[in-house]
Amino acid sequence: MKLTFVGGGTMAEALIRRLLAGEVVSPGQVRVADPAEGRRELLERQYGVDTYPEPSDCIGGADVVVLAVKPQDLEKAASQMGKLEEGQLLLSILAGVKLERLATRFEHGIIVRAMPNMPAQIGQGMTVWTATSGAGEPHIERARTILSALGEELYVPDEKYVDMATALSGSGPAYVFLFVEALIDGAVRIGMPRSMAEELAVQTVLGSMGYLREAGKHPAELRNLVTSPGGTTATALHELEKGSLRTLIAEAVAAAYTRTKGL
Ligand SMILES: NC(=O)c1ccc[n+]([C@@H]2O[C@H](COP(=O)([O-])OP(=O)(O)OC[C@H]3O[C@@H](n4cnc5c(N)ncnc54)[C@H](OP(=O)(O)O)[C@@H]3O)[C@@H](O)[C@H]2O)c1
Repeated sequence: MKLTFVGGGTMAEALIRRLLAGEVVSPGQVRVADPAEGRRELLERQYGVDTYPEPSDCIGGADVVVLAVKPQDLEKAASQMGKLEEGQLLLSILAGVKLERLATRFEHGIIVRAMPNMPAQIGQGMTVWTATSGAGEPHIERARTILSALGEELYVPDEKYVDMATALSGSGPAYVFLFVEALIDGAVRIGMPRSMAEELAVQTVLGSMGYLREAGKHPAELRNLVTSPGGTTATALHELEKGSLRTLIAEAVAAAYTRTKGL
């Protein structure tokens, strides 16, 4: 499979690193276009891939063209890319950019829109993706192979779920980081050394999530198991409910969804 990346930034690098490590592609099958000389040098040195300053020089002959620029750079990149070849799959990871806009801009019918998230950097990502009706089975399988290098992937038949996923798995890592930060600060406030608070908070979240996965139970069930009547946990949970944590999170997800739809 021959791959061309338009944009050689953080996400493209994560994909290249994971795809090479999994031997899904060899360095000779990967070309990257990026205007920054420093980025091109790094990608060539680190991964042995071919790089180009201009997208138009590396689109021809690719099976899949991965669009990995920032959404605000889409227009410029699209004009530099020119017309895609018949049968090429355009795989966009641009947050908030709809299939219809891509199809119109590129006058192309074979497009996948994917929403990865930050833990993709370590192969622990959650990517939700969909495709235009012009994408056939081989295109879908290629997209699945590429995206599964980033961690878990979920194909959805309706694009609205990609927008919803942007509000949950896309922005979710930031919500989790904020929660962990609050746990650390809370422990520091009662007198715990910061480094100790950091270790405890991170391992508590990691361990709880690992257990949730393994137990295969609803989180409420596990929460009840650690909440003894009149105990410490019940007292803390009461404070969280009093502060409307649950409603606040629901409002945050809804606000992110509204924002995504408006992009
Ligand atoms: N990072 C994440 O966790 C994440 C998660 C989900 C989705 N995404 C999506 O992934 C996309 C890429 O994000 P990122 O974090 O990888 O961004 P990034 O690190 O800024 O990478 C984008 C790269 O594209 C280059 N570029 C700009 N214009 C170009 C052009 N015309 N032709 C070729 N390359 C061009 C940029 O170069 P310059 O810096 O020199 O402009 C930069 O190296 C975004 O659209 C974002 O919405 C990212």
